[in-house]
Amino acid sequence: MLKPFLLICAAALFSIAPSTVSAAPPQDAAAKVPAKVTPETQAKAQKLYARDCALCHGETGDGKTDLAKDMQLTMIDWSDSKTLANRQDQELFKIIRNGKDKMPAEDSGRAKDDEVWNLIVYIRSLGKAQPAAPATPTAATTAPAPGN
Ligand code: HEC
Repeated sequence: MLKPFLLICAAALFSIAPSTVSAAPPQDAAAKVPAKVTPETQAKAQKLYARDCALCHGETGDGKTDLAKDMQLTMIDWSDSKTLANRQDQELFKIIRNGKDKMPAEDSGRAKDDEVWNLIVYIRSLGKAQPAAPATPTAATTAPAPGN
């Protein structure tokens, strides 16, 4: 007699999160955020990031910007994927939405919830892109990477 109950549970679970599974995620980080993540929404996120975030956090996410220096901000280097690895998406969402210390809030007039989630996926992708990019000549010579 458990079966109908289980079916109802399963149905309820699926109905709670309809929008999370609507698109094939381009990155694994996308699987976790409650928003549609596609190459198009990521392209939008990149523009939004360049407009509202890069002046402090930097195009590459390393936080080494003139403004951060001028404001004496302590920035985390997102181009190293380890720096955000143990931060929850929910926490990052709150910081972006509400601001924190000297970081200004990104209010809903500038970015909708979906767009903030896409910003988070975008920010995490900055860290992931790092090992593949031959940033310095020395890095390229120490990583021959045959099978890839
Ligand atoms: C005026 C400079 C400034 C701007 C503009 C800015 N930030 Fe920040 N941001 C900061 C600072 C400073 C912190 C660290 C806050 C703290 O923990 O004290 C931070 C922290 C964060 C964090 C938490 C993780 C971390 O590195 O500490 C996220 C996520 C973040 N910012 C995203 C964004 C996004 C997305 C935008 C654009 C919508 C943005 N920021 C715009 C200065 C800025």
